[in-house]
Amino acid sequence: MILHTSASAKIILLGEHAVVYGQPAIAVPVSSLRAVAVLRPSPKPNSEFKFSLLDLMRSDNPSEVKASLEAFAVIARTLSVRVDLPLPAAEIGLHSDIPIASGLGSGAAVAGALAKSLLFYQGHVLDEGVVNEAVYEAEKIHHGTPSGIDNSVIVYERPVYFRRDHPIEPLTIASPFTLLIADTGRKASTHDAVADVRRLHEAEPQKTQGLFDAIGELVLKAREVIKTGKPEALGSLMTENQRLLEQLTISSSELDQLVTAALNAGALGAKLSGGGRGGNMIALVNPDQVAKVQDGLLQAGAVRVIQTTVL
Ligand code: PMV
Repeated sequence: MILHTSASAKIILLGEHAVVYGQPAIAVPVSSLRAVAVLRPSPKPNSEFKFSLLDLMRSDNPSEVKASLEAFAVIARTLSVRVDLPLPAAEIGLHSDIPIASGLGSGAAVAGALAKSLLFYQGHVLDEGVVNEAVYEAEKIHHGTPSGIDNSVIVYERPVYFRRDHPIEPLTIASPFTLLIADTGRKASTHDAVADVRRLHEAEPQKTQGLFDAIGELVLKAREVIKTGKPEALGSLMTENQRLLEQLTISSSELDQLVTAALNAGALGAKLSGGGRGGNMIALVNPDQVAKVQDGLLQAGAVRVIQTTVL
């Protein structure tokens, strides 16, 4: 039996960085982009457990490879403690369509696919709480002090309103909306961006706290707008969020350029998504404006533009 399990990418709609400091944030899955684990039982029952065909291992950055291997070991360890799960005599190949270090949650998605594979293969019911816990432990290897938003949205694969140390609140989308996700092509370390924001917070606590609070207010408004089915009103909240992230020094010239291009081409709102400094940005668009905004983004240097509908 060959077993396939997968987990989706995600984007943060509003609230990144401030979420690390206890403010709420909203994230949604991007189900068209996935990480997949393919488990093949070994012919000999006593063979060792192996990872293979690891897309991430093709990275030319040795510390990225090391972190990925550590994260997988942490997944296996967490599951073995939580549900007494030994490593199977099997090989798991991990593949991912999700660009690495781009704000789309690639690390959490690969970890999620792996954790599901280990559980399913050994006959466990998929307990999303346990998978979430294991992926969160793996996220610590990649991000240092993750808020927990990435693993939550990816493991449950539904829109979430997330606040650190609070129960995850699934968000019902009253009226679907369209986003374009545009890649700057520049990889950026979320770990470094989070560390820089921490330094800024230490150097200028009052000002930085004010920015976090203002972001939290926008997230609360966005939650209401999403719940009441007026998603077009999200646009200005997203663009305001971008301005606050710029003040947190988290944007970059490439991101600024794509945000401006999207707005000039008729997007209702635009902002970076995730750790920032590179990676992806998102634009809220009316369906009849998709082609125009997509063109604007490509002309402004986006290396890839994906359309997704939030349902
Ligand atoms: O870069 P990503 O997709 O991993 O998003 C990180 C989101 C942050 O708020 C910057 C960090 C966190 O742990 O929440």
